[in-house]
Amino acid sequence: MFKDRLRSAKLRDRIVDAEDAAALIRDGMTVGMSGFTRAGEAKAVPLALAERARRDPLKITLMTGASLGNNLDKTLAEAHAVARRMPFQSDAVMRKAINSGEVMFIDQHLSETVEFLRSGQLPPVDIAVVEATAITEEGGIVPTTSVGNSASFAILAPKVIVEINLLQPEALEGLHDIYIPTKRPTREVIPVVAPESRIGQPFIPIPPEKIAAIVVTQSSDSPSTVEPADAETAAIAGHLTEFLMNEVRRGRLTEKLLPLQAGIGTIANAVLQGFADTPFHDLTMYSEVLQDSTFDLMDAGKLNFASGSSLTLSTEKHRRVLADIERYKARLVLRPQEISNHPEVIRRLGIIAINTALELDIYGNVNSTHVGGTHMMNGIGGSGDFARNAYMSIFVTKSLAKEGAISRVVPMVSHVDHTEHDVDILVTEIGLADLRGLAPRERARVIIDNCVHPKYRDVLADYYRRAVLRGGHTPHLIEEALAWHDNLRRIGRMLPETGDA
Ligand code: COA
Repeated sequence: MFKDRLRSAKLRDRIVDAEDAAALIRDGMTVGMSGFTRAGEAKAVPLALAERARRDPLKITLMTGASLGNNLDKTLAEAHAVARRMPFQSDAVMRKAINSGEVMFIDQHLSETVEFLRSGQLPPVDIAVVEATAITEEGGIVPTTSVGNSASFAILAPKVIVEINLLQPEALEGLHDIYIPTKRPTREVIPVVAPESRIGQPFIPIPPEKIAAIVVTQSSDSPSTVEPADAETAAIAGHLTEFLMNEVRRGRLTEKLLPLQAGIGTIANAVLQGFADTPFHDLTMYSEVLQDSTFDLMDAGKLNFASGSSLTLSTEKHRRVLADIERYKARLVLRPQEISNHPEVIRRLGIIAINTALELDIYGNVNSTHVGGTHMMNGIGGSGDFARNAYMSIFVTKSLAKEGAISRVVPMVSHVDHTEHDVDILVTEIGLADLRGLAPRERARVIIDNCVHPKYRDVLADYYRRAVLRGGHTPHLIEEALAWHDNLRRIGRMLPETGDA
């Protein structure tokens, strides 16, 4: 059976254990590892590397697709094995190391990392560590539950370590579409004209002699951390569904909508799940993470096709989907993240992009990354790739955080990831603000009236009223604009009187 997994006979002598493979990684190296939102990461070599770093200190630059599962970011951070990390993470221990200044984190649009590598604008990858379903006769690497940046890491690095994971079903072969854009300035058009377009090969083509070590593993992906829908996420889904149905009534969209992108997390997942009870049909997705909701909608007969870069599923959904992957495969494709998130393709297809905001302000600027303006949460991920280039850029969030001590709608965001120019629609459980075609003063009124929790609405309306008295295209009381964040830092809540809201 293993012969089907490692089909190139001449590579059989490269099989080693994880410790020997990890020994190829040396202090100071830049390592490109597979893994995208807890799916398809190399699982044994990073652990062996962390183990070694505990005995014999070393530090690497760690590049991945996005976040790693199996607590790998945590383990590597605890071993103090990471000097630099990019382009995304979502682990509490790694986050602490980033915010203390121990780890230099480069928070980057997910479509851009390999463009920078390819053009020499980042230091080169010394070694790639990639999880595989199989290695083909010619040495091609068949990825597992994510593609992420694995293809470019393997193509660009002089040495590649492959982990063949026997727990990942062989039937994953054929799911992937590996296409690498040609060099600039003579780049060809990326010929994706629909979510189902297949434009590349089902494996990562590399010369087999670059495969320096092969490790055989049997470990599963980590389950997604998505929480079940609650009353607030259901309300958000309800507002958005009603809005989109109105767009259909006005003839701007059909009931097929346009290809959907939904960001990581509970709210975006709940919004998509909500589409099961709508008249929308024959939907498609052109997204990066495919979560439980993708398969709920397929099973409900609502979703025809989904393109993404990873499958990030809850335990039960993971078991069911992977057991039946042969059937789903005809309606799924996993691509490199630079293609799933490519501005050219997103603009061409006309994506409806739904991402989550950490906070937003009265003019529609969105902070997705920095708590209190200073402390990194996860990273911008793909939200900027989609928001800037989408047909319609939607941000969703609950109106409050930390039992009401925080209003997620503030006078001025403490950090901007998505400027007002990239934000069309805002939705909280309170309501929806349609900002299209509105000037800043109009946007402020619509946001305050529709998205702010009642406990903060009057205070925010008063701030805006006083700001308008001073004038300006985008009125502000500059000395007060970040006072809510200052309160939060000093007394643990944004307004003294709404602490126990
Ligand atoms: N200020 C301070 N803390 C805040 C906050 C704010 N304005 N808003 C939320 N928080 C806290 C929450 O209380 C929660 O804390 P806890 O973990 O201690 O309970 C935490 O931040 C996460 O917030 P939550 O409401 O649970 O949201 P989430 O898990 O859906 O994550 C983002 C929201 C914005 C962090 C997440 O969507 C993200 O990382 N986005 C950026 C990447 C992205 O959009 N990718 C899209 C393409 S996949």
